[in-house]
Amino acid sequence: MAFDIDMIKKVYSQMAERVDAARDVVGKPLTLSEKILYNHLWDGTPKTAFTRGKDYVDFAPDRIACQDATAQMALLQFMQAGKDKVAVPTTVHCDHLIQAKDGAEKDLKHANDVSKEVFEFLESVSNKYGIGFWKPGAGIIHQVVLENYAFPGGMMIGTDSHTVNAGGLGMVAIGVGGADAVDVMAGMAWELKFPKLIGVKLTGKLSGWTAPKDVILKVAEILTVKGGTGAIVEYFGPGATSMSCTGKGTICNMGAEIGATTSTFGYDDSMERYLRATDRSDVADEANKVREYLTADPEVYANPEQYFDQVIEINLSELNPLLNGPFTPDLSTPAGKEMTKKATDNDWPLQVEWGLIGSCTNSSYEDLSRASSIAQQALDKKLKTKAEFGINPGSEQVRYTTERDGILEIFEKLDATIFTNACGPCIGQWARYSDPKNAPKNSIVHSFNRNFAKRADGNPNTHAFVASPELTAAIAIAGRLDFNPMTDKLINEDGEEVMLDEPTGWELPPKGFEVKENGYLAPREDGSSVVVKVAEDSERLQLLTPFTPIGDSITGAKLLIKAFGKCTTDHISMAGPWLRFRGHLDNISNNCLIGAVNAYNKKTNFVKNQLTGEYGGVPDTQREYKKEGVWTVVVGDHNYGEGSSREHAAMEPRHLGVAAVIVKSFARIHETNLKKQGMLGLTFDNEADYDLIQEDDTFNFLDLNEFAPNKPLHIEVVHSDGSKDTIKVNHTYNEAQIEWYKAGSALNLIAAQNA
Ligand code: F3S
Repeated sequence: MAFDIDMIKKVYSQMAERVDAARDVVGKPLTLSEKILYNHLWDGTPKTAFTRGKDYVDFAPDRIACQDATAQMALLQFMQAGKDKVAVPTTVHCDHLIQAKDGAEKDLKHANDVSKEVFEFLESVSNKYGIGFWKPGAGIIHQVVLENYAFPGGMMIGTDSHTVNAGGLGMVAIGVGGADAVDVMAGMAWELKFPKLIGVKLTGKLSGWTAPKDVILKVAEILTVKGGTGAIVEYFGPGATSMSCTGKGTICNMGAEIGATTSTFGYDDSMERYLRATDRSDVADEANKVREYLTADPEVYANPEQYFDQVIEINLSELNPLLNGPFTPDLSTPAGKEMTKKATDNDWPLQVEWGLIGSCTNSSYEDLSRASSIAQQALDKKLKTKAEFGINPGSEQVRYTTERDGILEIFEKLDATIFTNACGPCIGQWARYSDPKNAPKNSIVHSFNRNFAKRADGNPNTHAFVASPELTAAIAIAGRLDFNPMTDKLINEDGEEVMLDEPTGWELPPKGFEVKENGYLAPREDGSSVVVKVAEDSERLQLLTPFTPIGDSITGAKLLIKAFGKCTTDHISMAGPWLRFRGHLDNISNNCLIGAVNAYNKKTNFVKNQLTGEYGGVPDTQREYKKEGVWTVVVGDHNYGEGSSREHAAMEPRHLGVAAVIVKSFARIHETNLKKQGMLGLTFDNEADYDLIQEDDTFNFLDLNEFAPNKPLHIEVVHSDGSKDTIKVNHTYNEAQIEWYKAGSALNLIAAQNA
């Protein structure tokens, strides 16, 4: 950790000068988010004020974190950049490639067998280029980051959307595509549109059955999955300071579900307690010296409307435990009768088959201890659990400590399966069925963050509801979706009516955290002799070759697919079994857009090949276009590419020969990823033009040779009957991003500069 404390001291030492300068140029008191952003400008001391939601700004993040699924492509790209070492402290975490099936011991062994070459590749690249490596089983990236690396006032990026979790410890932490991470690893600036700011004032205090999870489930209900787009959500008020640090992490974590750039909280006593409990008193001592810079100026929280673009107020004392879902994280229902009605009206199964606790969202010591207080009552009150329990501890440190303190044993007595300290069911890595596609309709409740169709178990008929760990435990015991633990009675094995008492637990382990082997491997000081292993005939890893520029003339491009409704990165590049090909671009491209719904026949993976008139899968059809040298266009609806940061969702269409994606609106990370890969990411000037696009359309770009910032482009759309429409499309490319397009990709530019 010595290296970290030096870096943290540097961040803090420059803070006063930079933040004071920022206050001068902005001309008013600053929010916490602005302080952190202005303290991390690539160009040093602020000289001008930036316009929120408009200006692109270069930043210098303090750290990078990558998970094993995204790290493969990020590191394959970094290897092309021609550097000896990463320029910024970086860690790799093996958590996504571990399937949950039989429990931790067997599952981890199985993962180490089937993903051996990938783990070895990541370990050797990490060792070579000065990257800290967290072995399979060491924990889930965001929990490990919170425990080891996050620090108040810091800025980090991570190749995973839930990097935002580190906001719980007062960071500005942002999920990016691997291509962005590669820029920063290679010593370049990281560019971001200066975010808008949403203030969330928390009054009152959580009590009884409500938990930090309910705060973010409520915020999701208010803002919806699009409401946070392009904004940092800054939480403040007495309700914020009364919550634990890991609880704040949960809230920030699910900021990704409202599309927020990130979320954060000001430094407070709960963060100090957490830093000290996780063996980082040195960081707490340094943070205490600059405390006033690690929260907003007092005027801001006194009159938030004057300083934020939007302000929401939530009284925690009035909050109810919520269940959000199914299929979207912003559909809120209070626990109890309202759910009975909604479920009946919508035909959601009321019987619950699994209660899953854990994931990066809710796997802290506090989460497991509070959920176990409910589980213990099932034992004490002779209740037979109706649903199965699955637990994913967030890190080996949490697992070891909760095992030592008897917490895991309580769940085990209820026949819970303790899965590996890894993502497992949260990312579709759950071998629940032998044939998930034809698995029965059912409901599950989990304390994770995402609940898109098939996300947990690959079964499109699984209705997943998101709840706090406490409520998840109660519902798993009751086995009913509409169970309200505050009012409903259960019948125990003796036929008696019993009720569950409110959850209790510990914010931090009373006897302190403990771990025997945390699973961390430090890299070699000099990695020049380390050999990186990639087998020629590997199915899972493939060295990259640079993309050829698309150029300034696209004519005769065909429509590949017009996606209907929601098209997330899961629809574009599905997770689950495809995770195994994350490091092999050609192989993983066989999942390209197979989850997107074709607007003309409402089917997935069934599109018309205009050259033959035949219908087929999206990747196969696209490969045929490519073979014939025909560019294609993908059309989509609102918030296209929402979900995760995976750049595969951009690299696959690019690799297969899609030239442009034209949509009503983009999710930020995906839009940037398209730009990084040298593609066109465009939005309809008139949203109604989406309806103009027909199945047999051909696209001629009229003025791509004049591609310039703030200048719309025009496309002639030729329909099958020969009629034509000219549509106007907008873009957000700045000068530098247009250079990426011209070079074929951002990486092509970096490599040219390092040559
Ligand atoms: Fe893993 Fe799920 Fe978090 S996939 S990183 S546990 S969102």
